[in-house]
Amino acid sequence: MKKDLISIMDFNRDEYMRIMELAADFEKNPNQNLLEGKVVASLFFEPSTRTRLSFETAISRMGGRIVGFTDSSSSSVTKGETLHDTIRMVNNYADLIVMRHPLEGSARYASEVADIPVINAGDGANQHPTQTLLDMYSMLKTQGTLDNLNIFLVGDLKYGRTVHSLLMAMSQFENPIFNFIAPPELAMPIEYKKYLDSKGIRYFEHTEFTDIISEADIVYMTRVQKERFADPIEYEKVKNVYILRNSMLKNTKENMKILHPLPRVNEIHVDVDASPKAYYFTQALNGMYTREAIIAHTLGLK
Ligand code: CP
Repeated sequence: MKKDLISIMDFNRDEYMRIMELAADFEKNPNQNLLEGKVVASLFFEPSTRTRLSFETAISRMGGRIVGFTDSSSSSVTKGETLHDTIRMVNNYADLIVMRHPLEGSARYASEVADIPVINAGDGANQHPTQTLLDMYSMLKTQGTLDNLNIFLVGDLKYGRTVHSLLMAMSQFENPIFNFIAPPELAMPIEYKKYLDSKGIRYFEHTEFTDIISEADIVYMTRVQKERFADPIEYEKVKNVYILRNSMLKNTKENMKILHPLPRVNEIHVDVDASPKAYYFTQALNGMYTREAIIAHTLGLK
């Protein structure tokens, strides 16, 4: 049976740990010729820098070849071709599909149409499971464990797909505590809070975090997702809601790290970049190793 990665819940805790192990191996030796003779289709219906380039670098470092598009306006989607037909075609050409699409559920649909494995590189405000695996790898590297972490999720918790996937994944580990920091308009959706309730996991909701940041092991900042707002005036109201500055890090824990899936707009001031607690650029580098691991695991190459 083929192995897709559409939701972070498609993998279990043992598989997360296996991916972490493989990522560490790829970090030691990124150039492993496991994809020789294989073609990967990289279908980006939405803009991307890190996800696309780290996947494409990962594929190149593994000796594979890449076909696809970075902008659906250069594909036959502009002539009215459906997602169904596009996937049916690509299925004939490639051994693996990596797809980003603005519609929630599109990646699952593609996996149902395709006979080859599909990796979700982000579907609307729904899920971004490969980002979550690289976030977990970053946490494991910096904290030495994925258990007992106090995780602050800050910013756009409504539309930010990375925080949704991360919450689900970290709920599989021992005793996480979540602190959600968001304005009411961008609060964590109820279904995720119900999920935590069903597992007896503690979470707290705040609109400010200056007074409590000293408790955090991980501060996970997010961008307000302008492209998901139906009304631009609503975006204008919340776009500057949180700005993390270096002066706010004074009383934070020694081990605390600041993560961000990137791109950032202004939610992390550039004066944080030089702090040893700023981890977001290394986190993005970890994405390449983690995506090599995900490809190897999905195609059963290791
Ligand atoms: N983190 C992330 O998904 O970045 P891109 O949108 O640049 O791929």
